[in-house]
Amino acid sequence: MQRWIAGGWVTAALVVLLAYLGAGTAAAEVTYFTPAQTEGPYYPVTKPADRDSDLVAMQGASGLPAGEIVEFGGTLFDAGGMPVAGAVIEIWQTDSNGIYAHPNARRTAQRDANFQFYGESVTAEDGTYRFRTILPGQYAPRPRHIHVKIKRNGRTLLTTQLYFADDPRKATDSIFARTAGNAALIVELAEHTAADGSPVLYGRRDIVLRM
Ligand SMILES: [Fe+2]
Repeated sequence: MQRWIAGGWVTAALVVLLAYLGAGTAAAEVTYFTPAQTEGPYYPVTKPADRDSDLVAMQGASGLPAGEIVEFGGTLFDAGGMPVAGAVIEIWQTDSNGIYAHPNARRTAQRDANFQFYGESVTAEDGTYRFRTILPGQYAPRPRHIHVKIKRNGRTLLTTQLYFADDPRKATDSIFARTAGNAALIVELAEHTAADGSPVLYGRRDIVLRM
């Protein structure tokens, strides 16, 4: 009993110390703001029952979706360079054949039944988020892209799209090329080893809000 009380006090002191250190966290230097882009016509009408941040493993699927597995993540910052916790980052994209899960999209009958198409990642206390998905297929004439919407307390903070380095279609894409500061929308992927030892493409993309 005595030991438990002593341990409890040490824990309480540690919590106070961590809270104090947390309050003193220095803001990151803000060198860019993540530009907004059009939402496009394919924001999901019906969101999947499984809407977590892993779009590769889906409840009820008979296997893995086709395509190269991509993991990406980063930190969500506010305009002052402080991490934003508790924001919901939503993504939606095509499967490996460039098909969306949307009633107005083309070729939806052929869409990959094992792909989740939509996911959400809630930013942690330190502002970090992470997704596991597949490299989206191309649908002409657009470059490969992932749609992003960021919400907090039900309010939309940013709607945009993410792109990939080494995709030449970006240069001629009217949506990408006309966006000032579009370098902040590019995810640079590199070969990486996943937790289970399998190869994966990984990219980091910090997102900085204008608020
Ligand atoms: Fe799109």
